[in-house]
Amino acid sequence: MKHIQEVLFLLGSLGFVVGLKMMGKPDSARKGNLVAAAGMLFAVLGIMFFKHAEEGIHIVNNAGLIAAAIGVGTLVGWLMAKRVQMTAMPEMVSLFNGMGGLCAALISLLEWKFKGDSIATMPTGEYLAIIAGLIIGTVSFVGSIVAWGKLSGKLGDFHFPGQQFINIIMLIAIAGTAWMNFGAAADGNMLYFYLVIILASVYGLLFVFPIGGADMPVVISLLNSFTGVAAACGGFLYHNNVMLMGGVLVGSAGTILTIVMCKAMNRSLTNVLIGAVGGSSGAVAPSGKSGGTVREVQATDVAILMKYAQKVIVVPGYGLAVAQAQHVVHELEGLLEAEGVEVKYAIHPVAGRMPGHMNVLLAESNVSYDKLVEMEHINPEFATTDVVLVVGANDVVNPAAKTDPASPIYGMPILDVENAKQIVVLKRSMKSGYAGIENELFYNSKCGMLFGDAKDSLQKLVNEVKTL
Ligand code: TAP
Repeated sequence: MKHIQEVLFLLGSLGFVVGLKMMGKPDSARKGNLVAAAGMLFAVLGIMFFKHAEEGIHIVNNAGLIAAAIGVGTLVGWLMAKRVQMTAMPEMVSLFNGMGGLCAALISLLEWKFKGDSIATMPTGEYLAIIAGLIIGTVSFVGSIVAWGKLSGKLGDFHFPGQQFINIIMLIAIAGTAWMNFGAAADGNMLYFYLVIILASVYGLLFVFPIGGADMPVVISLLNSFTGVAAACGGFLYHNNVMLMGGVLVGSAGTILTIVMCKAMNRSLTNVLIGAVGGSSGAVAPSGKSGGTVREVQATDVAILMKYAQKVIVVPGYGLAVAQAQHVVHELEGLLEAEGVEVKYAIHPVAGRMPGHMNVLLAESNVSYDKLVEMEHINPEFATTDVVLVVGANDVVNPAAKTDPASPIYGMPILDVENAKQIVVLKRSMKSGYAGIENELFYNSKCGMLFGDAKDSLQKLVNEVKTL
């Protein structure tokens, strides 16, 4: 009985680590989520029932209130997760992340209040954990709420000259105020403590407001790592290993994801934060050469091309998510395979608007995981492909990334679709994608444009393939 809490915490930590590892692969990701959730259940049981390990089962004080809070949280989280549209997922993640930041900040606030007279003798490490949790948690909370507001279109951009300079001054001011708070608090003076909260809130606003709406997934990932660090501070404070471990995992996973996203977009983090690609639409001044002839094609011709092909590669992009065309593209894949055509999907790491966006979308329509091929593995295959069907993708197939040093996406690894024998692009117009630049691929003599909403166009292709 004595070590039961430690055992539960160990199981909780294992659940987090194993769950996270399983999330690294599409076919185990769903189970990984459940394993991590089970880990959280062990952690909660450990806290709720075995507060004092040596006393055996010992339900925490205020158990009723805690159970009610868990109940409300479960209900709200369940409903939101059930109702959310796939394209609105980054908004929801942002909102949930903000709640994590708020929790971490509240822990620091309460701990500070409870310390009372013992503040004067508090070890420096403990003080640092409280104040870091407060600052990072507050920045993460306010920043995530702004990110949510911007992604959902409720908030616009907000810039003023010298904003980055002011941000640096703000950081220095926060550190200075936190330092002064340590001395002042021993005399019962809470002024500096509250000042830290205000300054951190303002910093959260100034940090996220100028960033372009389409860059928000990178920022959310960064804020997510902030929340992890803030939670780890709480774990340190309570000597709670599972909370410390969970916080460290979230902090490091968020940091790694931020770096991976920046690399895949060929942008530095500074470039994202300072906003080279700004504006809610993510648009910048067009770069790249316009002109040339665009060849418009009809569904009948495309259906013939595909039906008599040996190999077809589908390149899904943001437009597939907007059109919610994942089910119909899967139907088309089935029809083509029944005709003996080999069909694969080429997955670019930043296609869509969030990490793993295309994997999640296609998994929804039960596309087999072994058909989803990552960029570095599919690129050599385009040369032996008869037809590439680009569905609502633009930047991830833009050759300017390889050929135009002036292009904002120059250096970003892309899918080499131009090596295929025929390319068909499904989109509604000649409009640009997220980077706001023209795409020379659309003027390539091998490329045909099938204009229209991706779902409608795919449905036409399905009908045509059926009647051929
Ligand atoms: P984009 O370059 O954004 O292009 C999407 C295209 O889909 C648009 O050109 C649009 O053209 C078309 N589209 C929109 N709605 C459609 C519909 N209903 N039917 C058919 N087409 C539709 O997408 P991508 O190629 O997936 O590239 C992703 C971009 O987002 C990259 O630049 C990446 O760096 C950036 N980004 C990604 C992430 C992550 S983590 N994935 C995070 C931040 C930024 P029309 O309007 O003409 O239809």
